[in-house]
Amino acid sequence: MTLRMTRRAFCGAMAGTAGLAALPVRAMAPKTLTARVATAQIAPPKYAATEVWTYDGALPGPVLRVPQGGRLARRLVNDLSVPTSIHWHGIRIDNAMDGVAGLTQEAVPPGGTFDYDFAVPDAGTFWYHAHTNSFEQVARGLSGALIVEEPDAPEVDRDVVLVLDDWLLNPEDAQFMEPFGHPMSLSHGGRLGNLLGTNGTYDYAREVKANERLRLRLINASNARIFVLQLAGLEGWTIALDGMPLPAPEPVEAELILAPAQRIDLIVDVTADVGETAALVRFDDDQWRPQARFPVAGTASATRRDGPAALPPNPNIEVPGIDSARRLDMAMEGGAMGRMSGAMMNGRAIGFREMAGQGQFWALAGQVGMTDTPFASLDRGETVRVRMTNETAFAHAMHLHGMHFRQVAEDGTLGPMRDTILSYPDEPLEIAFVADNPGKWLFHCHMLGHAASGMTTWINVT
Ligand code: C2O
Ligand code: CU
Repeated sequence: MTLRMTRRAFCGAMAGTAGLAALPVRAMAPKTLTARVATAQIAPPKYAATEVWTYDGALPGPVLRVPQGGRLARRLVNDLSVPTSIHWHGIRIDNAMDGVAGLTQEAVPPGGTFDYDFAVPDAGTFWYHAHTNSFEQVARGLSGALIVEEPDAPEVDRDVVLVLDDWLLNPEDAQFMEPFGHPMSLSHGGRLGNLLGTNGTYDYAREVKANERLRLRLINASNARIFVLQLAGLEGWTIALDGMPLPAPEPVEAELILAPAQRIDLIVDVTADVGETAALVRFDDDQWRPQARFPVAGTASATRRDGPAALPPNPNIEVPGIDSARRLDMAMEGGAMGRMSGAMMNGRAIGFREMAGQGQFWALAGQVGMTDTPFASLDRGETVRVRMTNETAFAHAMHLHGMHFRQVAEDGTLGPMRDTILSYPDEPLEIAFVADNPGKWLFHCHMLGHAASGMTTWINVT
C-alpha cells in the first residue's frame, strides 16, 4: 500500500476529526516578521549582552530570499512598545508597500500588524529596515538583508551576506548610548558607533577553502558610517551596486567605498593559503582592521578560474532623453560649520539658531524636513535630472525611494544604476532617472540623524 494520499482522501480521512477544522486556515496563515526586543552578544564576551530591537529575535534580521519576478509577503507583527513600519530599501516597489510612516502608511501601533505583499522586479542585494523613527529604530537593530535571486545565479562555492554595521555602546554596560538623536551627532556626521562589526558581531568569521569562489553581498546598515574597504587574501570583481548589475564585472583594484544604505556585490576568489586568514578589511583610526575574517581551512581545487560573466541586466534600466529632461536643483545646506543662515520650516522662514533650538540642522532646496507640497511633481514616465550642490561641511548619502537613478557626468555620460549616492562637500553631483513608478516617494539623506533633522523631502509621480 502506498503512503501517498490524494487531497480528497486526506480531507476525507480528517472529516469528523474534532479540532482539526482550523488546519486549512493555519496552512494559509501569512508568514510573519515580528519586531521585538531581544539580546545579542555584539561586544566581546567580557561585556554583557546588548538589548537590541530585532525582527524575529535575530540581529541582523533573518535573510529574506525571493526569486526575481516573484512576490514577497510578510505580516509585520509589532511586539515593540512603540509604533513601527518596514521599508524595503531599493525595491522598485508598489508605493503602498514602501513602509514610510506618515507618507505611504500609518505606523503600526504596538500590538498591531501590517501585511506587506509586493512584487520584486529586480534581482540583487537589497535590505529592509524600520522606517518610523529610523535614526533610533535602525540603530537599535531593526534591519536585515533582502536577496532577490537571479534565475541563473553565477556559479560560486558560497553566497555570503555581510551586513556591515556599527553600534554606539556605553562601555560600562554594553547598552546603546542614548539619546539616539544627540544634537552633536545630528549636526555633524551623524551617529557613529564605537564598535564596528558584521552580521551582529564585532568579530565575524567564516571558514573558507583556498581557491574557493565566493559571492560577497555587502550591505551598509549603519546610521552614518562610510566604510572604506579592501580585500586581503581575496581577489575579485565588483558585479553589482545597490542591487543593479554592472554591464561588465570590474576588477577590485582600489578601495571600495560603501556609504550608509549602499550595497556592493563582489565575486572573489580565495588567494590566501591554508592556515592563513583572508579578510574584508576596513580603514579606520588610521589603520586597516578586519571587518569580516575568512580563515582558510583546506583547498577547494588546484586551478584558478576565469573572471565571472556579467549578471543578466534587470528590466527597465535605461534613462533616455537626458538632453531634453526636466532639470531640478537641490541645494543641501546646514549643519555645523555650514554657511546656512536660515531656511523655510513648516511654511515660514526661520533662522539657523531657531532651527537648532528645535533640533533641526539641515535643509534640502531651502526647506527643513517634510513639506505639504512635494519637492517635485513629476509626470509618470518623464526623465528628470536633479543637480545637487552640497553646501555643507559633511558628506551625505542621498537615497531616492521607488526608482533607481544614474549619475550624469560632466560630459553627459551616465553612471551605473543606484538608489543611494554619496555626495561630498563642494562637489556638485547630478543624477537622472525615469519617473516611472507612480506614488509618493521620499528623497532623503541616509545618514539617518540628518534625515530626522531636516534632510528629508519627497517627490510625487502621477
Ligand atoms: Cu533605506 Cu528612506 O530608506
Ligand atoms: Cu546627511
